[in-house]
Amino acid sequence: MASTESLDQDQQLSTTQAPAHPLVAAPGQLSDVATLRQRARQSIEEGAVTPGYDADRGTVLRLLNEALATELVCTLRYKRHYFTAKGTDAQAVAAEFLEHAKEEEEHADRIAERIVQLGGEPDFSPHGLAERSHAEYVAGSNLREMIREDLIAERIAIESYREMVRYLADRDPTTRRMMEDILATEEEHADDLADLLTGRDLR
Ligand SMILES: [Fe+2]
Ligand SMILES: [Fe+2]
Repeated sequence: MASTESLDQDQQLSTTQAPAHPLVAAPGQLSDVATLRQRARQSIEEGAVTPGYDADRGTVLRLLNEALATELVCTLRYKRHYFTAKGTDAQAVAAEFLEHAKEEEEHADRIAERIVQLGGEPDFSPHGLAERSHAEYVAGSNLREMIREDLIAERIAIESYREMVRYLADRDPTTRRMMEDILATEEEHADDLADLLTGRDLR
């Protein structure tokens, strides 16, 4: 069928740098029901990614994979800190490390799920993980150093997620809301760590 061929071509265009799909309403305009239905029937193998998806999917997937690597590295660093925390204050601080490790892992899961929804491949490969991650893995030799490194890593994640949120804006509101939510947790983590660092004399 000739119409199927032209739809495939449309799809190829939309995966590179999308010129507006002919059936997608211009910004500020609303589509009528017939057009919405017609659009939804096209390229249904794309799942959640419909012709109205406004973002450059390749860029969003790259950013999400970097965020995924960041979350995985943060999970590993907090686990290391949890298991090696020693000293008078270790118990309470280690409990905080463990809580953060679990939350970073949840973030990684949410990001991986969104990558798949967008038709991408979540990159869990250990090869190059540290390079893909924005935050670093530093083991730390004492409690104070661990907290300090965790705080630095959180501040890096906060900056990079904030940039992502700004980039996503209205282009992909679902990914933006997810990243806003994750960003809020990273801010809480940074706040917890700053309290630990300043609030007591760590040994
Ligand atoms: Fe996180
Ligand atoms: Fe965090």
